[in-house]
Amino acid sequence: MKRISCFFLLLITGLSGYAQNNIIPAPVEYETTNAMFMLDNRTSLDVRTEDPEVQKYVTIFSEFLAYSGNQIAFKHVDSPDQNNKAIIISLNNSLDSKLGSEGYELVVNDNTVELTALKAPGIFNGLQTLRQLLPRNFEQKQEYGMGIGMIMGCKITDYPRFGWRGLMLDVSRHFFTVEDVKAYLDKMAQYKFNVFHWHLTDDEGWRIEIKSLPKLTEVGAWRVERHGRFGETRPYPAEGEKASYGGFYTQEQIKDVIQYAAARNIRIVPEIDIPGHSMAALAAYPELSVNKEPKFVNPGSKFAEWFGDGHFEMLIENTLNPADEKVYEFVDKVMTEVAALFPGEYIHMGGDECFHGYWEKSPEVQKFMKKNKIANTHELQSYFVKRVEKIINSKGKKMIGWDEILEGGLAEGAAVMSWRGMAGGIEAAKMGHEVVMSPTTYAYIDYSQGDHSVENPIYADLHLEKTYSFEPVPEGIDAKYILGAQANLWTEVIPNLPFAMYMTYPRAFAVAEVAWSPKEKKDWVSFINRTEQHFARFEAAKTNISTAVLEPIVSLKKEGDKLICTLENNASNTEIYYTIDNTYPMNYGIKYTEPFEIPEGNLSLRTQTYRNGRPIGRELIISREDLAKRVK
Ligand code: ACM
Repeated sequence: MKRISCFFLLLITGLSGYAQNNIIPAPVEYETTNAMFMLDNRTSLDVRTEDPEVQKYVTIFSEFLAYSGNQIAFKHVDSPDQNNKAIIISLNNSLDSKLGSEGYELVVNDNTVELTALKAPGIFNGLQTLRQLLPRNFEQKQEYGMGIGMIMGCKITDYPRFGWRGLMLDVSRHFFTVEDVKAYLDKMAQYKFNVFHWHLTDDEGWRIEIKSLPKLTEVGAWRVERHGRFGETRPYPAEGEKASYGGFYTQEQIKDVIQYAAARNIRIVPEIDIPGHSMAALAAYPELSVNKEPKFVNPGSKFAEWFGDGHFEMLIENTLNPADEKVYEFVDKVMTEVAALFPGEYIHMGGDECFHGYWEKSPEVQKFMKKNKIANTHELQSYFVKRVEKIINSKGKKMIGWDEILEGGLAEGAAVMSWRGMAGGIEAAKMGHEVVMSPTTYAYIDYSQGDHSVENPIYADLHLEKTYSFEPVPEGIDAKYILGAQANLWTEVIPNLPFAMYMTYPRAFAVAEVAWSPKEKKDWVSFINRTEQHFARFEAAKTNISTAVLEPIVSLKKEGDKLICTLENNASNTEIYYTIDNTYPMNYGIKYTEPFEIPEGNLSLRTQTYRNGRPIGRELIISREDLAKRVK
């Protein structure tokens, strides 16, 4: 009998795409048992707490089930059996305190799934795990019928390593609608991210309604429409040209998004990026700059010179004037409304990439510095940041800023978001400040994630493997100062939501796991295998994800006059085939085993990864000329 049911189980699970423990982020403890739960129309959601947050979270889970064609009733089930199965959800004060507010225990038995937590956010996270235990076809919209949700028996104890597990979305360089933002939140919640850093203002658009400063959105939210790559070929606005590209969020829309996020255990950290990155604000109120000249909202035109050593020059002034009291009145008005809208603890004030050239040349600013005994413009920026911190604190909020806020002296209670590597974070933590680690080297998910022959090339690369190797607590630093980890999606080359998803995932899986799972559990092979299962979940959900990790990694070097090519791939069970004679890289053709020479000639490298005799990922075709340019 047991044998027959095992056979039956294998058959059904094969058909329904049964998910093993493919949970991302990996749970702290996972143990299989001999039980097997089948979610079907004999299952109820039995919520044994009146907690309104839990009710909300379970409602969202039931909507997810309904989406996939499974109408599961809310009903108390006294004594669950085969015909009355129950997903039992409760809060329990006597659970181990190590679970904290976001941890949970999940036990899958034959007739019950028991989810318990100390606090409501733990229930939310447990429901995300339960969702991932269900077959991938549950991610697919089904109008009719009941999917069979087979879940193998297990016991899970799970809680996060960090309380800040963030993703940042830049909505200035390209505008993302409320619906886009909600879709972005939906996905992040599934992977237990709990902070959405909303980069609301920049040179290319001001996106948040400030009622006391209406021009910020009347003027600052709109720019002339341009196509082509940012910072290269986009001309400045012509005289009288209508600003037609852009958009902003009304305060009502923002409240709606905040609630939507809260219902998914996500708090929002709004960013108002000052004193640099302010061209859109200055288009609305040019009097807040040093030169007070009319400005435009930048349509993606080049306006800065980057010198490669971190130095830069802004060809158009995009900084607020720190010597003008009116600027602090402006900041006060903005922060008053931002603080009233967002219930979270932190407001992000940016502070990055602030060009000091216009301050240095301004007699007004120089006079101000002399009067206030400010020795240089780094100290002047620090003066500005400290005053902004006072304003933010006066609204009952804490300030966080990019690591440039360390320069010239860090404001007393400020938290630092370390992006130029980890050094800023280390310095801040050593001074006893809170830190979020989001270094370019591991967490900048606008960088190219695969070969430039098939990916949108940007000035830097960040492969999934590298992101997964991210360790947010540097050696010798007290972990208590590291709030957590975050990935940032800048959108200069990301025009819409489908592409934002493609760039975010799967690297956000890696950041989710870095920020949630115990450091000791880090295991690339396990991670990449689980990631591949989630490729299928994204496919079912009709959401883009990049599978670039399946493709060969091509690197070149010179040995004397010879051009030598190395191919690698870090997914499991793969083989790489290639040709250098312009023919298709066939299975059973030339299999890559060691570095090889690319001979002279009018030829291309063509290379393809295979698994079990089938091509996976995209074929890469790179001309010899391009290969030669890649020599490091
Ligand atoms: C940044 O990437 N400028 C924070």
